[in-house]
Amino acid sequence: MVVEKYANAEPELKQELKAIAEKIVSTGKGILAVDESPNDMGERLRDVNVENTEENRRAWRQLLFTANKDVISQHISGVILYHETLYQNADDGTPFVELLRQRNIIPGIKVDTGLVPLFGTTGEHTAQGLDDLQARCIQYKKDGCDFAKWRCAFKITKDTPSKLSILENANVLARYASICQSARIVPIVEPDILSDGDHDLTRCQQVTEEVLAAVYKALSDHHVYLEGTLLKPNMVTPGQSCPKKASPQEIAAATVTAFQRTVPVAVPGIAFLSGGQSEEDASVNLDAINKYPGKKPWTLTFSYGRALQASARSAWSGDPNQIAAGQEELVKRVKANGAACQGKYLAGSVSSEAARASNFIEGRVY
Ligand code: 13P
Repeated sequence: MVVEKYANAEPELKQELKAIAEKIVSTGKGILAVDESPNDMGERLRDVNVENTEENRRAWRQLLFTANKDVISQHISGVILYHETLYQNADDGTPFVELLRQRNIIPGIKVDTGLVPLFGTTGEHTAQGLDDLQARCIQYKKDGCDFAKWRCAFKITKDTPSKLSILENANVLARYASICQSARIVPIVEPDILSDGDHDLTRCQQVTEEVLAAVYKALSDHHVYLEGTLLKPNMVTPGQSCPKKASPQEIAAATVTAFQRTVPVAVPGIAFLSGGQSEEDASVNLDAINKYPGKKPWTLTFSYGRALQASARSAWSGDPNQIAAGQEELVKRVKANGAACQGKYLAGSVSSEAARASNFIEGRVY
């Protein structure tokens, strides 16, 4: 018997998912990713000598969410939260979710519970969190979230990613995506191919194509409604320690080619992670990708964590008198990426405090 695809999805559900996904990737807009776990946030705060307490994490996120409303509303369509942040309030008692909605920003939530070793492989991982995912998604939807993210990570070495890791991670991303959609939540599918290593651009492109092909096969097998999803991938770049660097144009050509070969046209948008690139590189490369003259049937935008926060955090450094200075740095990067996602960024035109500093964290697992 032929089972009709998406047979269980009501037209209203499909319409709702598609509308959310399209709103997130509307012209000139992208995502601010602030879904660092308390542990991961602790490392970022330690860099600027701030103690890792719940209150300091709240104060930091408040700084970001209350930055210049005009600029933020113009260029940020969604914010990815961690569970703790979803239930926090601003100083005046306004729940963060409400504050974001007032700014026309859609709250989203990280729902994987982190990476764990994939036994039988050489140091590869999968992500956990499926068991109670439907119940959590139903609750998160009630609490104001319209989208979610789930991150899987792949490491490039001579022998990895292995077939097992590709299949397992593609499958877990597809299970996650179908569960989210059943709860009226748009899944952001994040297969993050790490930039650790000395591999060249060609190898990264080859692995990206192999991983994305497996991810879209699994999404199809799981009857995921693609129009109601978004992809959050790495850009195709040489590894951090590859001696041969690539130009933004070479990165753009390799990235767009990999997507043309693997990402269906039905997917409304692709929102890149910054993956340890400096703030300026992340803007310049996104701009080059948008300027690349090939076929690009999806919106190509940003979903940056480190590349939006680094300068702001260092300007703030936990000092209540430096909140405005931190917000000013965030606003600069938001403007730069708002331009870059339309192919309108002039390289070097935004000089931020830490614009050229690498945000690479070796062996990042969280
Ligand atoms: P980076 O932009 O810092 O890579 O983080 C984005 C993200 O959400 C990674 O999961």
